[in-house]
Amino acid sequence: MRHYYDAVVVGSGLAGLTCAIYLKKAGLQVVVMTKEPKLYETNTYYAQGGIIASTDNDSAELLRSDLLRAGSGYNNLAAVDFFIKHGPALVFEFLVDEVGIQFSRSEEGKLDYTEEAAHSRRRIVHYEDHTGDKIEDSLINHAKKAGVEFLTDYTAIDLITNNHHSRDPQEVYREREVLGVYALNNLKGETEAFFSGHVVMATGGTGNLYYHSTNPVSATGDGISMAYRAGADIINAEFVQFHPTALFHKDIKKFLISESLRGEGGRLQNHEGLAFMQLYSEMGDLAPRDVVSRAVYDQICRSGREYMLLDIAGYYTGSVPIEKRFSKIYTTCLKGGIDITKEPIPITPAAHYFCGGIKTDIRGRTSLKNLYAVGEVSCTGLHGANRLASASLLEGLLWGKSSAVDISENRGEISKKRCDNIPDWEKPPHAEAFDPLLIDQDMQAIRLTMWNYAGIIRTTKGLRRAESDLDYYAHRIMKFYKSAVISKQIIELRNAVVSSQLIVAGALKNSTSVGCHYISK
Ligand code: SIN
Repeated sequence: MRHYYDAVVVGSGLAGLTCAIYLKKAGLQVVVMTKEPKLYETNTYYAQGGIIASTDNDSAELLRSDLLRAGSGYNNLAAVDFFIKHGPALVFEFLVDEVGIQFSRSEEGKLDYTEEAAHSRRRIVHYEDHTGDKIEDSLINHAKKAGVEFLTDYTAIDLITNNHHSRDPQEVYREREVLGVYALNNLKGETEAFFSGHVVMATGGTGNLYYHSTNPVSATGDGISMAYRAGADIINAEFVQFHPTALFHKDIKKFLISESLRGEGGRLQNHEGLAFMQLYSEMGDLAPRDVVSRAVYDQICRSGREYMLLDIAGYYTGSVPIEKRFSKIYTTCLKGGIDITKEPIPITPAAHYFCGGIKTDIRGRTSLKNLYAVGEVSCTGLHGANRLASASLLEGLLWGKSSAVDISENRGEISKKRCDNIPDWEKPPHAEAFDPLLIDQDMQAIRLTMWNYAGIIRTTKGLRRAESDLDYYAHRIMKFYKSAVISKQIIELRNAVVSSQLIVAGALKNSTSVGCHYISK
């Protein structure tokens, strides 16, 4: 099947949805596709902490200096200035006034701003610890009302470009342009071509390339890998941010314990009850995330234990009861037999956010014509070498809007003739169905390799080992891919290995420890 749209958005998190809503409002035919059966299954949905917004006692200059300090000055100054000028106000203009989201308020009815590491002001609005699911659900409803089309269970395979795919030999000599995307209808097992004047990558990050992660399993670096194969610039790939506190539990995996627990008094402890963060930083439990992650990792390595502890019960400073302020964490932990109002929470650091990605400018444009990237898959340079907490939802919101504005001001259609010159996706001639266990085995191997050799504390030797192991997996996976019946799992595996190689290559190129890239000499 062949489809024609003004814009295709790949990914249904906050950035993709915001972009689609603004595109639709500008009168474009837009479709949002996700590889998941449920639209909400995105990183946005799992965000707990909150979103940066403006407060009376804050200033653009203070926010700017916090972003630059967290990012070790590696930030793109144009992106930072754009963000501080237009970002915080957009939370109120769009999320509150247009979409109708009510963030948590104090008993006096004032917005309840919370604190997270490396912020010099309480400037983060939240909805209890359900900020992500509240925003995601509200945006899905709003997009549906606006008439955005949705396709679930569609896995993007590759970007279609004139240089790579056209049967017209003249297209090789022209500037490279993205003309659409090939995607798999997961349920029918059929591939389809989506042609569009603009493709917006909004596929999220790479957390699931690591053994411990706060991200859902869908975070396999799909967009980065697709854009890389099409020839887009990928930058800052060494900067993988680890969150210091994911729940460590035998049955509950990939569950974040928000930094806002420490913002509201919570303290990290080792198994002897020592609150160890003062040993590592004067800022204690609210030191930047990379510092805290390394400290927890160090305590784990020194003690030979698999986890450390976070105590909110003994230190909570908030006025709302813990079980209400952190209702999601409270109920999830309770299901796992931990009462956070009475006992410390077992935690481990985990891969959390990819600060690198597809290089974009402040309009969301990438280095490839017609390709835009928004949200975690993109690298606007806002975060530099390390992201300031709660900056990513606002980045997704702002760039979701700015890319939609740019696309609607520069509408372009791909002529019927050019589309007709693009063949359907080519199936391998004698495709075999592979045992899903084989695919799972390779995915697990990648995740362990990345955790052990390209994780919180890296060494050049370890990275070289990762490089050679990944080369070997990649060789085998590509062979697999070329002879396999196409499936969501095999597409993800191929994307996962390519994205892992990009991270390791980035880490090997940068021999300086900076931000969340730490090389032990
Ligand atoms: C958290 O709630 O700790 C995560 C917030 C973020 O990553 O920005």
